[in-house]
Amino acid sequence: MDKKELTKDILALKQERNAVIVAHNYQIDDVQALADVIGDSFALSKYCASVSQDVIVFCGVHFMAESAKILSPQKTVLLPEIHAGCPMADMVTAEDLRALKRDHPHAVVVCYINTSAAVKAESDICCTSSNAVKVIQSLTQEEIIFVPDKNLGNYIAKKVPEKRMIIWDGYCVTHHRVTLEDVQKAKKAHPDAVLLVHPECRPEVVELADFVGSTRQIIDFAAVSKEKKFIIGTEMGVLYSLKRNSPEKTFYLLSPGLICPNMKKTRLESVYNALKQMRYTIELEEEIMIKARTTLERMLKVE
Ligand code: 13P
Ligand code: SF4
Repeated sequence: MDKKELTKDILALKQERNAVIVAHNYQIDDVQALADVIGDSFALSKYCASVSQDVIVFCGVHFMAESAKILSPQKTVLLPEIHAGCPMADMVTAEDLRALKRDHPHAVVVCYINTSAAVKAESDICCTSSNAVKVIQSLTQEEIIFVPDKNLGNYIAKKVPEKRMIIWDGYCVTHHRVTLEDVQKAKKAHPDAVLLVHPECRPEVVELADFVGSTRQIIDFAAVSKEKKFIIGTEMGVLYSLKRNSPEKTFYLLSPGLICPNMKKTRLESVYNALKQMRYTIELEEEIMIKARTTLERMLKVE
């Protein structure tokens, strides 16, 4: 089936199923073009908490579809590719977190949204890359357990030095791959470009950035900036919105390694099959869902 025909069939199925298609900024261009809404982890979780349709097709990775289900338990949430996971989210388990909590009984637990529902259920409050500093600042406790991203954790610790952070040793394989040499090389090749990076990058990379933010914040920054050239330090999927919003500007990817294989698993065929066969539905244990919802809702209240 060609792209045009496939898109037509997906849109017909979407109407038939009373579904909405949401896509993360790291999805392939064809999927982003098809989606009703594209955004970062925060925008999409907020959106999914308020949708009116019966079915949410979540084009992203597993923890994102889980968060949509937790926030909209009465909806059917479909993840088109069941093996689209997040290696960083898998770096901490609920059991790991329980052990850490036993070692630090007075600490409040903040989990990055890139965690399983079971880890969220063991946490006090969630955050995304767009609101992490704000969430930490909203807490009265001094001691904070932060899981699983050490790079985001270290970034927050620098911004909020009054807190004592116990940071898990996880990382995003895609962003952590970017090195200081990559930055030096890119800056040398494009000396008049502004460097925008995601806080999942290593501290020495973040240190040299002109702007640090979530995917949505990077896209918005470039759109309103007076600058014309940008080096982009996050997954290449953001180039879709960057170019669409600012066709007159030039964007250079900081490193060719900035590609998340899990985010690229979802294709138009996956979305078609998801809606046709109503697969793969996200199901969660009631008790986990209730606890994880509190963790997510506390974050939504901070904004
Ligand atoms: P944001 O969507 O918050 O920018 O996070 C990026 C990411 O790595 C999601 O997996
Ligand atoms: Fe996980 Fe990194 Fe891929 Fe995001 S980009 S889904 S954090 S591996």
